[in-house]
Amino acid sequence: MEKFVIEGGAPLRGTVRISGAKNAALPIMAATMLADEPVTLKGVPRLRDVATLAGILAELGVKVERMGDLLRIETVNPDLIDAPYHMVRKMRASICVLGPLLAKRRRARVALPGGCVIGVRPVDLHIKGLRALGADIEIRHGDIIAKADRLKGAEVYLGGAFGSTVLGTANLMCAGALAEGKTVIEGAACEPEVTDLGDFLNSAGACISGHGTPRIEIEGVSRLSGGEYEVIPDRVETGTFMIAAAATRGSIKIENARLDHLRAAVDKLQEIGVEVTPGGGAVHVSAASLPLPTDVVTLPYPGLPTDLQAQFMALLATADGISVITEKIFPDRFMHVAELNRMGASIRKEGASAVVRGVGELSGAPVMASDLRASAALVLAGLAARGITEINRIYHIDRGYEHIEEKLIRLGASIQRVDV
Ligand code: EPZ
Repeated sequence: MEKFVIEGGAPLRGTVRISGAKNAALPIMAATMLADEPVTLKGVPRLRDVATLAGILAELGVKVERMGDLLRIETVNPDLIDAPYHMVRKMRASICVLGPLLAKRRRARVALPGGCVIGVRPVDLHIKGLRALGADIEIRHGDIIAKADRLKGAEVYLGGAFGSTVLGTANLMCAGALAEGKTVIEGAACEPEVTDLGDFLNSAGACISGHGTPRIEIEGVSRLSGGEYEVIPDRVETGTFMIAAAATRGSIKIENARLDHLRAAVDKLQEIGVEVTPGGGAVHVSAASLPLPTDVVTLPYPGLPTDLQAQFMALLATADGISVITEKIFPDRFMHVAELNRMGASIRKEGASAVVRGVGELSGAPVMASDLRASAALVLAGLAARGITEINRIYHIDRGYEHIEEKLIRLGASIQRVDV
């Protein structure tokens, strides 16, 4: 096991380059199973989640080779259709193999992902969408058993009680890409990672339009080719570093950032007094004083992303007043509250909201990471706090942030990874 030891107080200064997006890379890696030739992906970050999915793809007869910044993916045994529980339980996102498997191999057995600390993670909308395309799906002993001789295009509404589903939309796009006829997804997720998947599929010969909007139209084709594709930069990593600059009252330059993927988060940062200035192909982020208090509500894209909620909470913990943070996507996504309170924050959970009473300064303390974005929030809090913070179970953070301590050290942070 490893922990981070952070000495807080240093304003971050310097330049950081954003890696490729985890949440774009994962569904695109799964979607390569639809192609008849090898696919080379550029910009896939070196993350635990990417390694986990590569392991699952290997169980599915797909060879994944890392060649520097490139990932070469080739199906070598298309007869394997079983994504086993002992691997799927490591990562909820493994569900993204279901649509490609069903569309290309006509059968799939994928373990139900189960929940995680950020909440119950149902897949009812995924199943609803695939059944609408004619799949025969049953749940048996914790597995999703799916089969379909030939998927047929259909009109499907994919909206749920918490908005649409990102990976459900991804699964349906993959299934529709090779289905017979036209598929229309109403109430589709609009996240940039969904757009990126649609662009990847089109680059391989699919016929998809409207991706990135709530209505996606897919004309099924008979085959997809291989080729090369570069995934988009990680908007959640970008937002995390923006908030880190604000939390430490620093001034940083962020390269390879797509501000158009972060309008809501940038708007919120500017509202609380953070300077965000695009220029010269990069983005400059700086803050000279404590953040102003505000209200934060997480929403489906283009709203403020739930994946930045914990990071905003760490920042607002030292705001000059009271802020209210409301989670509309994962109402239980507040594991970071107790840990931030250990660092002197004054946060009270009220149902799907948290009332954050700003304190002048956080104090370093030993804390426990619980999930990917909560871990990132604790790192930001440690960078801003007075004294030493130790963050245990940092394998959570390695799931979604590439070389995070190296990037922070280059920005002047005092952070080290220590074996425990
Ligand atoms: C994706 O998860 C992301 N993961 C999550 O990022 C992100 O938080 C989430 O989208 C929301 O933006 C990846 O892309 C790998 P959803 P996904 O299906 O697709 C409910 C991170 O930190 N729902 O869009 O699994 C669900 O319970 C991760 O990088 C149903 O009710 O999320 C939730 O309340 C965490 N039925 C809401 O919809 C379903 O069938 C959104 O979930 C599916 C989802």
